[in-house]
Amino acid sequence: MEERKKLIIDTDCGSDDAMAIAMALRDPRYEILCFTTVTGNVDARQAAQNTLFTIEAAGTYEPPVYIGCETPLLVPFVGAAETHGDDGMGDIGLVPKRLKVAEGNGVLKMVELLRDSEQGEIDIITLGTLTNIAVAMRLFPDEMRKVGRIVMMGTAGLGTGNVSPVAEFNIWQDAEAAKIVFEFGVPLMAVGWDACIDEAMLERKDLDRLIQSGPLGKVMVDCNRVLMEMNYDRFGRDCLDMADPAAMAAALYPECIDDCDDYYCEVDTSKGPSYGGVLVDRYHFSGKPANCAVCSKLKPELFKEYIFRTLGA
Ligand code: RIB
Ligand code: CA
Repeated sequence: MEERKKLIIDTDCGSDDAMAIAMALRDPRYEILCFTTVTGNVDARQAAQNTLFTIEAAGTYEPPVYIGCETPLLVPFVGAAETHGDDGMGDIGLVPKRLKVAEGNGVLKMVELLRDSEQGEIDIITLGTLTNIAVAMRLFPDEMRKVGRIVMMGTAGLGTGNVSPVAEFNIWQDAEAAKIVFEFGVPLMAVGWDACIDEAMLERKDLDRLIQSGPLGKVMVDCNRVLMEMNYDRFGRDCLDMADPAAMAAALYPECIDDCDDYYCEVDTSKGPSYGGVLVDRYHFSGKPANCAVCSKLKPELFKEYIFRTLGA
């Protein structure tokens, strides 16, 4: 069997992160060395509990979970309770039965693994704010330059934002951190918010397939209860826009990518209505070299098939 590609997954484990994490744990081509949690949807401690629950629910191997940065660099923690519930997992009482948080700081553990790795051996996948990544880059640049690439769920892609007309939540909740990451100079792929909506939405038939597939598929839908209710009010139907699963699928199953191009991207940290927006320089106005691959569209059938295959649905 081919050697498994090594991953570190950085997460603010809300309910869509949970689905993405379960998908990654159950793809045998990859080895998750650890999870590091960050404040975003919920605080990093709650995110760690939600990650531990998800590892138990996924029923495979059990990488350590380390808590990272508990506050954004500068802006206040806002969170996303309206989307994921107060506990981040739909407020339906999902708690780990057995697993505990590992000793040690998530940022330091990430850096330690990179220090001991070969150049490019480890990829980092981020599902939340970029606070941990930015702190690691500022304090340990040599180690962070050893990363193969960073694939993030983040930015509005080539579309509109989901917390403002221009800003997507993971960037908006810590735009200063995102600016550091985009300017650092390692290979980046940003899977935009636009990659998980429209035809990529999970519709009623997709949700029923997951629910009927067994306890894992069912809990992955149940924990997204709050988002489902929000979407029913917004779209008038049961549907789930799964941003982190879209990023995970783009990272682990690139065959499902439809549109992805390299652009110069700049993070807006100005203190106004465009804070947290990421300017994607599609027509090269800046004259600057591309610093990020922006994935703005997936092939819906392949994306959904990857979710079903990894979750056993
Ligand atoms: O904008 C969507 C992103 O913000 C997802 O990662 C979701 O979990 C929240 O972190
Ligand atoms: Ca997330």
